[in-house]
Amino acid sequence: MNAPDPGPSRVCVTRTLPDAGMRELETLPGPVDVHHGDGPPSRAELLDAVAGASGLVTLLTESVDEELLTAAGPDLRVVANCAVGYDNIDVDAAARRGVVVTNTPDVLDEATADLAVTLMLAASRRVVEADRYLRAGNQWIWDPRLFLGLDLSAGATVGIVGLGRIGLAVARRANAFGMRLAAHRISESCRAEADALGVTEVPLPTLLSSSDVVTLHCPLTPRTHHLIGAAELDAMPSHAVLVNTARGPVVDEAALVDALERGAIGAAALDVFEHEPRVHPRLLELDNVIAVPHIASAGHATRDAMATLAVRNVAAVLAGRPPLTPVRE
Ligand code: DGY
Repeated sequence: MNAPDPGPSRVCVTRTLPDAGMRELETLPGPVDVHHGDGPPSRAELLDAVAGASGLVTLLTESVDEELLTAAGPDLRVVANCAVGYDNIDVDAAARRGVVVTNTPDVLDEATADLAVTLMLAASRRVVEADRYLRAGNQWIWDPRLFLGLDLSAGATVGIVGLGRIGLAVARRANAFGMRLAAHRISESCRAEADALGVTEVPLPTLLSSSDVVTLHCPLTPRTHHLIGAAELDAMPSHAVLVNTARGPVVDEAALVDALERGAIGAAALDVFEHEPRVHPRLLELDNVIAVPHIASAGHATRDAMATLAVRNVAAVLAGRPPLTPVRE
């Protein structure tokens, strides 16, 4: 007797996706369950929703660990994270179960670099602080000493920690501004263009002590957790700006608050936080901090491309084809 037809594969999506991603979901042959709501599902809702699914589309807010993989069960074949970072996924646990993990590289490089440079410029030229000053109703008149900041185009050095595709996109922009470029850890695939842009590869201590702006573009791994702590912040010039559009825990946030309060560095511009969505309350009290809610990839076209790619990864694996962008450890 033939085994009963298991039916079309069910896909579970943990949040309403951008429009293009929702349209792409309609092309999947089997049922799709989307968690519609203002925020992510609770852990209990998530564990319940994944049961029996063959594919999951997850966001960086979901922890995909042993518990969740167990709750999904033996039919699970693919977890497609709608993000380039995948520190929310236990990739080894997925591999042990033969579950493919995919992410969304490349499609968000330019948007992320745009925001990194926006933050760099805004913090260096104190744009947000000056905006707050006007909105507070302060009396002002043009003054040669009002809101003086850092001249980035006059040969300032930007230090890029982790020069992969996003770091390279930052380097192109910084080069166009006339900045000097240093980097710690250049990906082999980016080395030729980095060389052509005049990027100097230096050890982290040299980068920290010689950069006017330090911008982080490394993944979060056990090795990069708290890569920037008190000693590293103290090694930076006192006027330096720290930009983080990578992952919050790459920076020891308590040490950062302390360094900013002591004047050990000049400013910080942060898209990501150590304990997201919580932001260290003292960061928000400091004039020399710009804080935005993890929006580096938040361009309409970029988010559409990320969501479409995530769904196509699910479709490929469930159809027995290789994933488009598997996570490569
Ligand atoms: C990512 O993709 O990892 C970003 O942090 C969110 O776009």
